[in-house]
Amino acid sequence: MPSAMSYTNDLDGRAQLCRDVILSAGALVLEGFENGRAADFSMKGPQDYLTETDAASEAHIRQRIAAAFPEDSFFGEEGGGDIRERVWVVDPIDGTANFARGIPHFCISIGYVEGNVAKLAAIYNPALDELYFCRAGEGATRNGQPISAARTTRFDMASVELGWSTRIPNTRYLEAMTRLLDKGANVRRAGSGAMALAYVADGRSDAYVELHMNSWDCVPGLLLVAEAGGRVCPFFEIGSLQAGAAVLASAPAIADGVSDAVGIVLAEPLNRRERNAA
Ligand code: IPD
Repeated sequence: MPSAMSYTNDLDGRAQLCRDVILSAGALVLEGFENGRAADFSMKGPQDYLTETDAASEAHIRQRIAAAFPEDSFFGEEGGGDIRERVWVVDPIDGTANFARGIPHFCISIGYVEGNVAKLAAIYNPALDELYFCRAGEGATRNGQPISAARTTRFDMASVELGWSTRIPNTRYLEAMTRLLDKGANVRRAGSGAMALAYVADGRSDAYVELHMNSWDCVPGLLLVAEAGGRVCPFFEIGSLQAGAAVLASAPAIADGVSDAVGIVLAEPLNRRERNAA
C-alpha cells in the first residue's frame, strides 16, 4: 500500500488514492460479508440497516484520505463531515440491506468534487471484484476497460430501475412506477442505488430513477453515467451535496421518455469538447 507521501497533491494523486482506498475498503467489506459479521445488523430507522462494517469501512476511507490530503474535506454517510471547496463524498457500503441479508449486490461509492464539479468517481463491488472508475473528461471504465451506456431505443425492450426510500411518499413512487410501466418498461429494484447507476453506465440497465438520493449514493454514479455517454439530471442545479436531489440517469435514446414519465429534468448532454475542458 503506498504511503501517504506517495500521492502527488493534484488530481493524478487523488485519482490514485481513490482507486487504492476503494480496493482496500472493498477487502475489508468483503471480509465482513464472508465472515458473517454482516448479519449482525441494527436499524438506524425504518428500512435503514447499519452494520459494524459500514462504520469500519468509512473510518478506513476517512483515515486514508486525511493522511494523504489533510486539507480536503470529507462527507460520509455514517459520520457526516463538512463540505468545502474540495470534498470527498463517500458511501462506505451502498446496499447495506443487501449486505446485511447475505445478497452480494452492494458496493463502496467514492466521489471527489472540486467547486461543485465532480472530478473523480469510483464504485466497487468487492463480491464480484468489479471496479468502476472515471475521471471527468476521460470516459468511464470497468476494471480498466471502457464502458458505455446501452443503445436501447424502445421502452418495450428497456429495464429501468426505480429506487425507493422512506424519504418520499409512496404515492409519488407508485405514480412514477405506473408511468414507466405504462410506457412498456420493465421496472426493477435491486437495493443499491450506487450500483444501479454503475449498471446504467455499463449498459446492463437502461435507466435509474430515484425521487430523492443523498449525494454519497449518487454523485459518483452520475459522473460515471455521463462519462459513459448516458444522460443525467443536473444534480448540482436541482439539489446540493448537503441536501441531495431527485436522480435520473439513462441510456441516451430513451432519456427524454424517462424524464417525461417521472418528471425529473435532464442536463444537456456532455459532448467530448466539454469533457476535455472539465
Ligand atoms: C440506500 C440504497 C437504496 C436507495 C436508498 C439509499 P444505503 O443506501 O442505495 O437502493 O434506494 O435511497 O439510501 O442505505 O444502502 O447506503
